[in-house]
Amino acid sequence: MNRFKGKIVLVTGGSRNTGLSIVKKFCDEGARVFMCGSTPESTAKGAEILASWGCANIRSIPCDISDLAQVNHLFDVIEKEAGQLDILVNNAAHQGIGKPFLEMSTDYVMEVLGVNVRGGFQVTQQAVRRFFLRQETRGVVVFLSSNTAMRAIRNRTAYCASKGAINSMVRSIALDLGPLGIRVNACAPGYIYTERWDSLSETTKQRRRLNCPLRHEATGMDIANVVAFLASDDSGNMTGEIVTCDAGCSCQHMPEDVDF
Ligand SMILES: NC(=O)c1ccc[n+]([C@@H]2O[C@H](COP(=O)([O-])OP(=O)(O)OC[C@H]3O[C@@H](n4cnc5c(N)ncnc54)[C@H](OP(=O)(O)O)[C@@H]3O)[C@@H](O)[C@H]2O)c1
Repeated sequence: MNRFKGKIVLVTGGSRNTGLSIVKKFCDEGARVFMCGSTPESTAKGAEILASWGCANIRSIPCDISDLAQVNHLFDVIEKEAGQLDILVNNAAHQGIGKPFLEMSTDYVMEVLGVNVRGGFQVTQQAVRRFFLRQETRGVVVFLSSNTAMRAIRNRTAYCASKGAINSMVRSIALDLGPLGIRVNACAPGYIYTERWDSLSETTKQRRRLNCPLRHEATGMDIANVVAFLASDDSGNMTGEIVTCDAGCSCQHMPEDVDF
């Protein structure tokens, strides 16, 4: 398929794991892709990996999305080099891993919300103001949420709260921008295989897989396929939707081994 030929796409958090797959997917389907990681080093490393995968039409620009000045700079570069933006994928996230509620400081909560909520908000607002509203062909926004917005996981209060806020933000931005012809949706993954899985024992990996009705976690490309669907005309009548992609985890009340 070549659904994104001639399209300009921005993927935040394109420097690692799922973001790399999302960038590759758009690149494979003909788009020119701008991507950012949070630092020059991580962004350059991501660009190197993408080049080694044969992704040619990519421009990498470091940008900490929690910092409005850096977000403005990112859009200045896109404006100067491409003059348009058609698709925004808000993939960047602070994972907020490993802090039990009683040990979580307010500053840490604000740090996680600063990337996931403030970052997603300001990148989207700039994309809409600076590009989508000025173009005849209006833009599309896809957020990466998480199934943890609906069903919590332990020691991740800030992260779960941020993804819940993203779901609400997706619905309310969709209402405000729908009449202007701009669609806003989210993909909510469950387990995705990332480099963080490499340090897990085989037993833990298998235990996680047994938790999934489909018996396997998503690959980055499984998620990229859903993101591409939401960004394409194939989902042209959808807005304000949260599309779960989690191997069936969210439809079960409890894992099979305790279900008796
Ligand atoms: N992995 C999962 O199992 C899972 C499950 C459900 C939902 N999700 C969601 O899916 C998306 C991708 O997940 P992932 O596991 O692939 O993410 P990840 O491995 O944690 O990578 C996060 C990406 O976001 C970037 N990032 C972090 N803070 C940033 C900031 N302040 N400014 C700009 N970029 C920033 C990182 O850049 P650096 O390289 O510079 O750090 C990296 O490229 C996320 O939204 C995540 O919440 C993931």
